[in-house]
Amino acid sequence: MSRRAADGQLALDLPGFVAPGPAAVPELLDPAEVARRCGLSYAPSAEQAAVVQAPVDRPMVVVAGAGSGKTETMAARVAWLVANQLVAPEAVLGLTFTRKAASELGARIRLRLTALAAHPDTDPDLRARLEVATPTVATYHGYAAGIVAEHGLRIGVEPGAGVLGPAMCWGQAATVVAAHTGDMADVALGLVSTTEDVLQLAAELGEHDVTPDQLRRWTGQLHDQVHAYPVTGRTKGPYADVLKMLGRQRARVALLPMVEAFEARKRAAGAIDYADQVASAARVATGSPDVGRRERARWRVVLLDEYQDTSVGQLRMLEALFGGAGHHPVLAVGDPRQSIYGWRGASSGTIERFPRTFPGAPDRPAARLTLSTSWRNDHAVLAVANRVAADLPQPAQAAPLPDLTA
Ligand SMILES: Nc1ncnc2c1ncn2[C@@H]1O[C@H](COP(=O)(O)OP(=O)(O)OP(=O)(O)O)[C@@H](O)[C@H]1O
Ligand SMILES: [Mg+2]
Repeated sequence: MSRRAADGQLALDLPGFVAPGPAAVPELLDPAEVARRCGLSYAPSAEQAAVVQAPVDRPMVVVAGAGSGKTETMAARVAWLVANQLVAPEAVLGLTFTRKAASELGARIRLRLTALAAHPDTDPDLRARLEVATPTVATYHGYAAGIVAEHGLRIGVEPGAGVLGPAMCWGQAATVVAAHTGDMADVALGLVSTTEDVLQLAAELGEHDVTPDQLRRWTGQLHDQVHAYPVTGRTKGPYADVLKMLGRQRARVALLPMVEAFEARKRAAGAIDYADQVASAARVATGSPDVGRRERARWRVVLLDEYQDTSVGQLRMLEALFGGAGHHPVLAVGDPRQSIYGWRGASSGTIERFPRTFPGAPDRPAARLTLSTSWRNDHAVLAVANRVAADLPQPAQAAPLPDLTA
């Protein structure tokens, strides 16, 4: 059996969704009514309400600026789905970036559901359920770590593998750098900066799922390509800036033996670091479709906050679990203009690629919505912000982002 969502489209009838009773299907509560029952003094705006009550049958990305209520709208969506018994509270997974953001999103959801449970008009069965069941909110990282802990053995990572924090990683890498006797002609730095570079390169290879050998091969090809260009006219070979760039590539390759020694030390100690956890989770997810099937059965609705900052490894994991042919109802919210983790593999293009990462089923393709009211800033601040944002590059294919209004 299925229930009719607000716009007349049918919600999916899948395990994890609470089946309606044999009686007539009741009208769905609208987002404003749910907000009222959740004890809020304000209702969602029309733009927010469109997100909140969208049918749960396709992936959806909400692209919106700072303070436009992206996180708020996610919490409201959870409350609406739960209040209308379209999804069981324990079948909701919310992911975000930092632990602080996760605790904030978790708190906003809990606040609403607690009020909903206490509201006199709430169905007694739902109230009983809310006393024992809550949505899960975690960081992208914590979720990846959980996948590795549960399924790491599939790729040879022991469940008890110790996780090295940054300080321990630094110690291991510094030992490797100090012991290194290989050619360092292209590396002009001392122990401390070299250690940092080794750690950063190791982490970036992990985030991008690139092996040291692939990087060596690629660098060799680039070198050959540049030197194969015909020398014409008065130039006596590649320009000085190009040679400088090639020197930087060589320096990076010179670090690779230390990266490999660092990885070997971790393996010998049966330990992994944070970057390994994400890379391993991505490998588990892409290599074992079974894991995706289990995660999709467990989490009927998946919310991705701060989506613009997800790294290559995190995206690969999420795509393998919930995207592609899985066409799960993922709701991502993000702001390409707030993409702050470029150095770690995130890119502002991540949001524009959402329909390719999470295409949805052919007859239920991914949807894109926007929010344009800022609830945090007044006219003067927004005038400056919109002026500054106007100089940022616009996404290539997608519709331009709306300016924020107060
Ligand atoms: N419809 C609304 N009416 C009144 N206040 C709102 C409404 N929607 C959101 N807010 C408030 O606006 C503020 C910003 O919301 P929120 O943190 O969800 O924005 P955001 O888009 O996630 O921000 P960021 O870009 O920093 O992630 C919050 O204090 C929230 O309670
Ligand atoms: Mg937010």
